[in-house]
Amino acid sequence: MAAAPSDQKVIVVDFGAQYGQLIARRVRDQHVYSEIVPCDVSAAEVRELAPAAIILSGGPASVYAEDAPSVDPGIFELGIPVLGFCYGQQIMAVTLGGSVGHTEKGEYGAASLTRCDEGASKLYGETPVEQTVWMSHRDAVAQAPEDFTVTASTDTCPIASMECAERRLYATQFHPEVRHTPHGDELLRNFLFDICGLEPSWTMDSIIEDSVAAIREQVGTNRVILGLSGGVDSSVVAALCARAIGKQLTCVFVNHGLLRKNEPEEVEEVFTKQFDVDFVHVHAEDRYAALLADVVEPEQKRRIIGSQFWKEFFSVAQDLDGVKFLAQGTIYPDIIESGARKTGGKASTIKSHHNLIPFPEGVHFDLIEPLDHFFKDEVRALGTALGLPDHIVHRQPFPGPGLAIRIIGTVTREKLEILKNADAIVREELDAYNARIFEETGDRNSERSVWQYFAVLPDIKSVGVMGDERTYAYPIILRAVESSDAMTADWAKLPYDVLARVSGRIVAEVPGVNRVAYDITSKPPATIEWE
Ligand code: XMP
Repeated sequence: MAAAPSDQKVIVVDFGAQYGQLIARRVRDQHVYSEIVPCDVSAAEVRELAPAAIILSGGPASVYAEDAPSVDPGIFELGIPVLGFCYGQQIMAVTLGGSVGHTEKGEYGAASLTRCDEGASKLYGETPVEQTVWMSHRDAVAQAPEDFTVTASTDTCPIASMECAERRLYATQFHPEVRHTPHGDELLRNFLFDICGLEPSWTMDSIIEDSVAAIREQVGTNRVILGLSGGVDSSVVAALCARAIGKQLTCVFVNHGLLRKNEPEEVEEVFTKQFDVDFVHVHAEDRYAALLADVVEPEQKRRIIGSQFWKEFFSVAQDLDGVKFLAQGTIYPDIIESGARKTGGKASTIKSHHNLIPFPEGVHFDLIEPLDHFFKDEVRALGTALGLPDHIVHRQPFPGPGLAIRIIGTVTREKLEILKNADAIVREELDAYNARIFEETGDRNSERSVWQYFAVLPDIKSVGVMGDERTYAYPIILRAVESSDAMTADWAKLPYDVLARVSGRIVAEVPGVNRVAYDITSKPPATIEWE
């Protein structure tokens, strides 16, 4: 993993919170770098990380439950300011000698909070005496630790927040990180800037400067190859590396034959005409077709495709002199979702992101992953700051294993042809729909626009009738979602006329398809991709 992108950082100790990532995001929104660490982090490890502040997240457990996560008490002795939310407040209380009780009803949703600090709490600062906050808890602190004062309460929660200003320990039972706590951002800013003395210095310019310096230092005089897919992540890495090491970089585009219609041509066009980088287009379509011939299981597809990527890159590297490094666009959610590295939380392996698959025997590179601490929308902002064109920066996410995981069951040339053609229609129609929304609202991120959309080909056939003929053909599944970071998503409430046009065109224009279905499931419980 690359060095932390800032020396002034806040760590979020994750107790399995629903909102753990959100806390990190909210801190970053204040231009302070923040990362998530697991709740079993020791005081010694925290000292090594040297954060400027610590936030204890919420979590689903009850502090007195047998397997409830605890916190190393030494963390409170490091002299580093700590802010706890919800479970974070409760664990702070019991660790420091207070107690937690079980309330009868719990408290869920908006609550009316009254400050009782007489204006003295730096955490609340200038915020009003009465304010709305978002609560979600059953347990609550019954007794604050000895040297703490209670700073606010609600009707059902007498200790809605507490603090020991002298030791810079603060905690709230409510969730300042969610939008339903209107003064939440202000509380966070008060903590970061007034209490911890941090500076809002984590800006795009400083991020670029630090990343470029880190890449130069890591690479020295060696050569680097970059696995380029044409997606936003690898393109941003390309732009960063090009700025850092210029001609020591070779971009390698492995064409596995699983890309969307016209995509290989577009990628080649951008990276040969708009960028001054060395570009190699590897035609690996036949090798991939042979490797995937009888494979059905999606994880196996991912492993085969990922492993072959490494072999293809290695083979290019052998032809170039002195390549030690492979740069790639791994981002923070890839790591969290793959559960592949120690990041925090208790993320289980949901799916293997291709760029986190281990090297096959005989292949070795040192990795350069300058985006492995960034969320998707931060990567996009970085791309814009680096001068990448809009159509790359706002490109939809596309899985490394490509259409292989959007074809359920075996991947054949026939199925690929069907899916590419259906997907091209989906993209054409929904691109046009998004363009209309953009024209009407002037907002690229309008709630009415669709974040990601594509076609899926399931492994079933059904009966239809076309003209006077019975057909027995595939359905296409339309997937269209709203999201901001792909971690959660909701299905897009598309107008019926748009759905009707997509369906009508696919059935009329794509041979082998006689039906279109729309996936109306959110993530969770589903994922965005079908595989
Ligand atoms: P899921 O299906 O997990 O997808 O909800 C979340 C987002 O990640 C994209 N995705 C990938 N992106 N490599 C990538 O670069 C992958 O292997 C991969 N798998 C899924 C997916 O399109 C969605 O936006």
